[in-house]
Amino acid sequence: MIRADPQREWTGSVTTRTVPSVEDIRERLGAIGQEHVLRFYDSLSEDARQGLLQQIDALDLEGLPGLIEKYVRSKPDFSPGSTPRPASVYPANEGDAVRSWDRAYYRKAGETLLRAGKVAAFTVAGGQGSRLGFEGPKGKYPAGAVTKKPLFAMLGEWVLAAQSRYGAAIPWYIMTSPINHEETVEFFREQHHFGLNEDDIIFFPQGVMPSFDLETGNMLLAEKGVLATNPDGHGGSLRALAVSGALDDMRRRGIEQISYFQVDNPIVRAIDPVFIGLHVGAPDSSGEMSAKVVRKTDPKEKVGVVCSVDGKHQVIEYSDLPDELAEQRNSDGSLAFSAGSIAIHMLSVEFVQRLNNSAGSGGFALPLHRAEKKVAYVDFETGKQVEPSAPNAVKLETFVFDALPFADKALILETERVEEFAPIKNAEGNDSPATCRAIQTERAALWLETAGIRVPRRPDETPDCVLELSPLTATTAEDLQQREDLPKEIRAGEELAL
Ligand code: UD1
Repeated sequence: MIRADPQREWTGSVTTRTVPSVEDIRERLGAIGQEHVLRFYDSLSEDARQGLLQQIDALDLEGLPGLIEKYVRSKPDFSPGSTPRPASVYPANEGDAVRSWDRAYYRKAGETLLRAGKVAAFTVAGGQGSRLGFEGPKGKYPAGAVTKKPLFAMLGEWVLAAQSRYGAAIPWYIMTSPINHEETVEFFREQHHFGLNEDDIIFFPQGVMPSFDLETGNMLLAEKGVLATNPDGHGGSLRALAVSGALDDMRRRGIEQISYFQVDNPIVRAIDPVFIGLHVGAPDSSGEMSAKVVRKTDPKEKVGVVCSVDGKHQVIEYSDLPDELAEQRNSDGSLAFSAGSIAIHMLSVEFVQRLNNSAGSGGFALPLHRAEKKVAYVDFETGKQVEPSAPNAVKLETFVFDALPFADKALILETERVEEFAPIKNAEGNDSPATCRAIQTERAALWLETAGIRVPRRPDETPDCVLELSPLTATTAEDLQQREDLPKEIRAGEELAL
C-alpha cells in the first residue's frame, strides 16, 4: 500500500524509462484522490495509454497532496518574515561616494577565469512568444533594431565575441521547455548555430508541473490521454541543469562558473568579466550566486527588488513588496528599495550541485509561486474539450532568484539600464519591441559619441536615427573607440547596423 504523506515536500518530476502497469498507477492515484485522470484510459489507443502512464509516473505523486494543500487550496504568504532592509549594492559607478571599488582589478580577475575556459553561458529560453503575438520559441523573435536578427542570434554573437576575445571555448547551455525544444534545436541547425561551434551548444528541456483545477485542487487533463501541465518556472533550471546531465558536462569541460541570463533581453552582457570577477573575488561574495540590478526610479515598476532579510540578500517580487517599503525614500529623494532585479546572475557549478544534492533531504526546495490562469481542459463528465473564458486553474512555478538566500554571501552589482536591460516582454508599452529598439539605439549612440562621432538628436535628446550595434563590432564603449572603420557621423533619420 502506498501512503501519501501530506507533510512531504514536492520533489519535482523525473522521467523514467520503464512504464509501470495501469493497476499500479491506479493504486497510487487512488491513495492521493487523483484517480479521475484515468477516466478515459480505456478509450485510448495503446500508445496514448503508455504516454499517459509515463506522464503520471514521472510526477512525484506521493508529494502531491501536501503540494495541493499548501499552494493550490491555500495561497502561500510571501511577505518576508522580518523587516527587509535595502540591499548592499556595488554601485554602477565605481567612484560612487557610498562605496568605491576597483573595476579594472575585478575585470582582470574575470578575464583570467575566462581565458582559462572556466565560464559557461546559460540562457533560460523555455518561454513562447505568445504575449507578443508571435508563434514559436521566444528566442526566434526578431529583435535587432535594424537587422531584425532573432534574440538567439544577438545573444549568440556576444558569446562568439567573448570566445574570440579570450581565446577559449565558452559553452552555451540553453534551457528549452517540452513545448519548444525540437523547434529551438532545429532553428539553431537552420541558422548554422550562428557561427558557434555546434558541440559547444547544449540544449535541454526544463521540467513541468501539473496544472490544477482552481475549485477542487485536482489535476486536469488537457486531452483525454494527456495531463494539463505547465513549465516549472525558471527556478526549474537549477534542477534541470543536474537532471539533464548539463552539470556533469560542465565539470568534464572544467567549467566552474555559470553566467545566467534570460532569452528576452538582447542587450544583456552575456559574458561580463567585471561581474564574473566581482562574483569570484569580492570579499563579500562567497562566489556561489550573485545578481545584477538596475536602479528603480518608479516605486510601481514591475521588477523584483533585492532586499536584505535577516542578513541575507533575497529578491522580493514587486507584488509581494509592501507599498510603504516600495515608496520609502532616502533623504535625497531617491528610493530606499531601489535594487531592481533584472534576472542576470552568476552561479557556481558547485553551488548548483550542492542545491541539488540537498534536494532529496528536504534541504533545498525553492518555494512555489502560484498564478491563476486560463487552462484548456477536458470535462470529466462530458469528455468534451473546454476553452475557459476566466481563470480556472492554478499554475505553480519556482523562481531562480529564490536560490539567492541559499548562498552564504550573495553579491549584488548595479548596472546602468541603458547598458544592458532592454527586455522584450509585451507587444506594446513598457518592455516592448519599441522600447527595446529605442534602448539599442540609445546605447549605440552613447558609445559612438564617446568615440567622437556625432549622432543627430531630437529636441527631447532622443537619437534621431535607428542604430544597432553587434557585439562582434564592440562589447564596450572602449572597444568601439579602438575601431577604425566607424562612420564620421550619423545622418538624421538614418538606420544603421554596425
Ligand atoms: C522576470 C522576473 C522579475 C524581473 C524581470 C526582469 C519573475 C517572476 N520575475 O519577470 O523579477 O524583474 O524578469 O526581466 O521571474 N522562463 C523559462 N521557463 C519558465 C518560465 C520562464 O525559461 O518556466 C524564461 C522565459 O523564457 C523568459 C524568462 O524566463 O526568458 C522570464 O520569465 P517571465 O515569466 O517572462 O518573467 P517576467 O514576468 O518577465
